[in-house]
Amino acid sequence: MYEQYWNLKEKPFQNTPDPRYLFLSNQHEDALMKLTYVIAQGLGCGMLTGVFGCGKTLLGKAILNDLGKDRYRCAYIFNPCVSEPAELLRAIVRGLSPQALPEKKTELLVDPLLEKLQAILLDNVSEGKENIVVIDEAHAIEDTRIFEQMRLVLNFQSENKFLLTLLILGQPELRDKVDAIKPLDQRVAVRCHLDHLSSSDVDKYIKHRLKVAGSTESPDNPIFAKEAVEAIAKHSGSIPRRINTLCDLILMSGFAKKTKKIELDFIKSVIEDFNVS
Ligand SMILES: Nc1ncnc2c1ncn2[C@@H]1O[C@H](COP(=O)(O)OP(=O)(O)OP(=O)(O)O)[C@@H](O)[C@H]1O
Ligand SMILES: [Mg+2]
Repeated sequence: MYEQYWNLKEKPFQNTPDPRYLFLSNQHEDALMKLTYVIAQGLGCGMLTGVFGCGKTLLGKAILNDLGKDRYRCAYIFNPCVSEPAELLRAIVRGLSPQALPEKKTELLVDPLLEKLQAILLDNVSEGKENIVVIDEAHAIEDTRIFEQMRLVLNFQSENKFLLTLLILGQPELRDKVDAIKPLDQRVAVRCHLDHLSSSDVDKYIKHRLKVAGSTESPDNPIFAKEAVEAIAKHSGSIPRRINTLCDLILMSGFAKKTKKIELDFIKSVIEDFNVS
């Protein structure tokens, strides 16, 4: 819609987990390095916590992307609040194996599923593929049996490494939930955390996303004035999802009003007009 007006190839501030847009602040880089290390060294389990909208899901996608599609099989569980533990296992089996799930009801219970999972893990490893299970939104799990199930899948190990990597992602309260389940807690080899960006990173974040979207703005004459970026950082709490929402509205309004440069007053009017929270 406004892409042409701002000399962009695509919209830069979409709230989608597109790894091309990943901006590596120090904390994102640190988490990426640590979680990649868990996979590469077969350490079993890594946990990534962080406040909402700070890039946990995006980072999870970026790690898989970096690994390359033919190097891994992955079960990405977006909604782990399942009604019974066997359902989580079914989702893991479905994700890690190209074959359909067994049809017999008796084979869909916990014990036969665990047996099947072990066979799948070994098959994938013998084909040179990493087994990766990502459990996103894990802070929302209320049923401790689901956490217990995660511990069980971590029991699959060869002589010197885990047969699968489990990455658990969730909001900060996940730390307390896992902490309360000692057998699982002790199996978490690496923990990392994402917070809001620093205010100096907000400027870099905006410039990075504009560049990926094809912007050729000159450093001497950026689209967003310095004071405008400061106001965006303040209003959004420097949280990437909120920065995106605000910047998208700003670019759209700027196009509608034929604004040449985004200045502080313009930001204030957009926040007011759109009642941006
Ligand atoms: N480091 C980053 N680089 C580029 N974009 C980012 C970054 N972090 C977050 N974003 C943007 O913000 C949006 C929200 O991020 P994401 O969905 O990964 O957050 P989250 O931490 O998983 O939030 P929630 O706790 O609500 O699930 C992403 O779709 C992405 O567009
Ligand atoms: Mg998320």
